[in-house]
Amino acid sequence: MSSEAQKPEPTKTSDTSQSVDAMPRRRFVNFILGGGLLTTLGSIVVPLFNFMIPPKIQEAVQNSVVAAKVGELPRNSGKVFKFGSKPGMLVHNEQGEYKAFSAVCTHLECTVQYREDFKHVWCACHNGHFDLTGKNIIGPPPRPLEVYDVDISGDDIVVSRV
Ligand code: FES
Repeated sequence: MSSEAQKPEPTKTSDTSQSVDAMPRRRFVNFILGGGLLTTLGSIVVPLFNFMIPPKIQEAVQNSVVAAKVGELPRNSGKVFKFGSKPGMLVHNEQGEYKAFSAVCTHLECTVQYREDFKHVWCACHNGHFDLTGKNIIGPPPRPLEVYDVDISGDDIVVSRV
C-alpha cells in the first residue's frame, strides 16, 4: 500500500464548513484591531487638533489695579506688578513722583526693570533703555513703553490705563 492511500481525502463539505467558521472570527479580529487603531489615532489627533486651534476665549481687559501701597517704594526705586495678564512697572523717582508703564519691552517683549544706578528703566535682554516718560532712548526698542496713569487713593497707589 502506498502512503497516499492511507491519507483521508478532505471532503469538499469539511473545507466549506472550516471557511464558514473562520470568516466571522477573522472579521471579529479585524474589527477589534481596526477599532483599536482608530481609538489610538483619535487619542493622538484630537488633542493635537485642539492644541493647534485654541478655544476662542476673550481676554478680560483690566483697566486699573492697586500696584503698591503708599510708603512701600522708597525714592529712586521701581516695582513690577501684575496688570491683567501682562506685567506693569511702577517707579518712585528721586523727586517723589510716581510713574507707571507697561513693563513689556517694545523690542522683543522682555520684562523691563528699574535701574537705580541709571535712574531709568532698562531691558536686560538687549540693553534697551527708556527714560521716565517711557521714551526709548538707547538700544533696539523701536517704540516708547505704554504709559499708565497713577492715582493715590487712601493708602493705595492705583495704576490705570490712559
Ligand atoms: S527685548 Fe528689550 S531690548 Fe530687546
